Amino acid sequence: MHVTLLGGTGDIGEGLALRLARDSDHEVTIGSRDAEKAQTSAEKYEQILADSGVETTIEGHENADAVAGADVAVCCVPAYHLTDTIDAVADDLGDAVLVSPAVGMKRDESGMHYNPPGIGSVTQLAAATAPEGTPVVGAFHNLPAGKLAALDVALDWDVPVVADDDSARETITSLVEDIEGLRPLVAGGLANAAEIEGLTPLLINIAQHNDGLHDLGVKFQ
Ligand SMILES: NC(=O)c1ccc[n+]([C@@H]2O[C@H](COP(=O)([O-])OP(=O)(O)OC[C@H]3O[C@@H](n4cnc5c(N)ncnc54)[C@H](OP(=O)(O)O)[C@@H]3O)[C@@H](O)[C@H]2O)c1
Repeated sequence: MHVTLLGGTGDIGEGLALRLARDSDHEVTIGSRDAEKAQTSAEKYEQILADSGVETTIEGHENADAVAGADVAVCCVPAYHLTDTIDAVADDLGDAVLVSPAVGMKRDESGMHYNPPGIGSVTQLAAATAPEGTPVVGAFHNLPAGKLAALDVALDWDVPVVADDDSARETITSLVEDIEGLRPLVAGGLANAAEIEGLTPLLINIAQHNDGLHDLGVKFQ
């Protein structure tokens, strides 16, 4: 498949790009608001992969160009910029499945808190913003970018996946399975996304208050 990471120049984009390019045969494209920044990140990721013995090509383009022809577009931008980003690529999404890993959070003196939009979750906001006919899937919300990007770290995490469209869900569970050490878990429809997104501030709070724990993910057993 052709997988485009919108805003793939950031933290989660880097981790997903490196793992997908290393562990799968999928074609990975980095998107950015700035074509040159996308190209620079793509070259940086290629170099990191080459240093770990993987020769691969990663392209970098402005978001709308990056998504043209993609089978999957992961919207790797902060939750507050999700709708702008989807709007900017809406005409170019074609048949792509749109994936939202975004979590809205706010911090106060006691720690991180889930801060969902009025519609219920960021994933549902993505679905409400996506053009008609574009299936939306929620996934990757609970993966810590730092460990994803550290290719020497062996992953052992679950990835809850929510979707209303069966075919799109299967496309993304299969994509998750392609990354070594990740297990997709079907968590129901998009209406269940808030429960998954709400785990992320919990992971951050636990990491903050417990020595030796950092960059936490989830594993259900
Ligand atoms: N970091 C994590 O560990 C993690 C884990 C799970 C899920 N997530 C979710 O993944 C998403 C991205 O997280 P991140 O930590 O990778 O974010 P980030 O590094 O802060 O930003 C990612 C990219 O978003 C783009 N961006 C920034 N401001 C923007 C704006 N105003 N409009 C459009 N695009 C903008 C930038 O790309 P360009 O400048 O190249 O356009 C940036 O490189 C978030 O929604 C987060 O909740 C993150």
